[in-house]
Amino acid sequence: MSSYGMTIVEHLLMKQQQIPFATGAFSRLMSELVVAAKLISREVNKAGLVDIYGFTGEINVYGEQVQKLDEYAHKTIIRRLRHTGVLCAIISEESADIMEIPEPFSRGPYILVMDPLDGSSNIDVNISIGTIFSVYRRKEEGGPVKLEEVLQRGAKQVAAGYFIYGSSTMMVYTTGQGVHGFTLYPSIGEFLLSHENIKIPERGKIYSVNEGNYNYWDENVRRYVDYLKKPDVADGRPYTSRYVGSLVSDFHRNLLKGGIFMYPADSKDPKKPHGKLRLLCEASPLAFVVQQAGGYASNGKKPILDIKPNSIHERVPLYIGSIEDVKMAEKYLRGEYQ
Ligand code: AHG
Ligand code: MN
Ligand code: MN
Repeated sequence: MSSYGMTIVEHLLMKQQQIPFATGAFSRLMSELVVAAKLISREVNKAGLVDIYGFTGEINVYGEQVQKLDEYAHKTIIRRLRHTGVLCAIISEESADIMEIPEPFSRGPYILVMDPLDGSSNIDVNISIGTIFSVYRRKEEGGPVKLEEVLQRGAKQVAAGYFIYGSSTMMVYTTGQGVHGFTLYPSIGEFLLSHENIKIPERGKIYSVNEGNYNYWDENVRRYVDYLKKPDVADGRPYTSRYVGSLVSDFHRNLLKGGIFMYPADSKDPKKPHGKLRLLCEASPLAFVVQQAGGYASNGKKPILDIKPNSIHERVPLYIGSIEDVKMAEKYLRGEYQ
């Protein structure tokens, strides 16, 4: 029987049956995350109405505190997940430190890492945004969560994925058994399996990068982008340029169509010499997804999944997408083409 049309919860339960000794804790975590994403999706969809209904001050017409959407997403996920008993800590792009699950909630073995709202500068202009998540298992049995337990290599992820709030709301996730996509049917309020076992083409025709930073890149990065634009019909060049400016949206398009997304290191801001994107909250989760789809993610020198973070908000250059495209980028960055 085809699995298409299955709900996320059914899918999780089906996968859980294939794992001996599975306790259901992980399925519980994921199904609460799905509820949080439905709430965020609802808020994202009405964001454009904020001005019309006069939600301009601190308090809206319903007497509710108006929150920025990224703050709303951050708080909603925490509120929905802290009582599940399966998490010991949450790491969020919106919070400087580890957030341990406090008393009186019971704790479990998992650590959730998230970018609650990715691409948030695009909210005002009605462009797709997303939520990125990743799950690790802690090393210790109990006690306070140590920084060391959080700073794990991406290869240690138990699960990762994202929600995209676009023309449809979708969830794409992996637990290391392929990548699966679900589409939210608003009329029934369920995510149903729409993209089973997604595979990214080995090579694409799209490159996605903020080319306004061209003059801040080192010459090897510039050479690689020049190569992508140089016409060579037999080789499928020039590539097409597509850049939304929402990582989740740019990544999702390239996952389905093939190509490369990059956010290279640049010299624009001396405080961010390694580019803009965060290793734990953004790069590692998408690296796990792309690798499970047959693609590859690199910092230009080595696999993102092999990098052990030194801090929670460490930034990293990111080259991610079709395997042949990312391997070619690595060759250019090594200076193999002068
Ligand atoms: P966030 O909204 O979570 O801070 O992330 C924004 C990121 C990412 O979504 C996108 O790829 C990148 O910023 C775009 O940066 P530029 O505007 O520098 O191109
Ligand atoms: Mn982000
Ligand atoms: Mn964000």
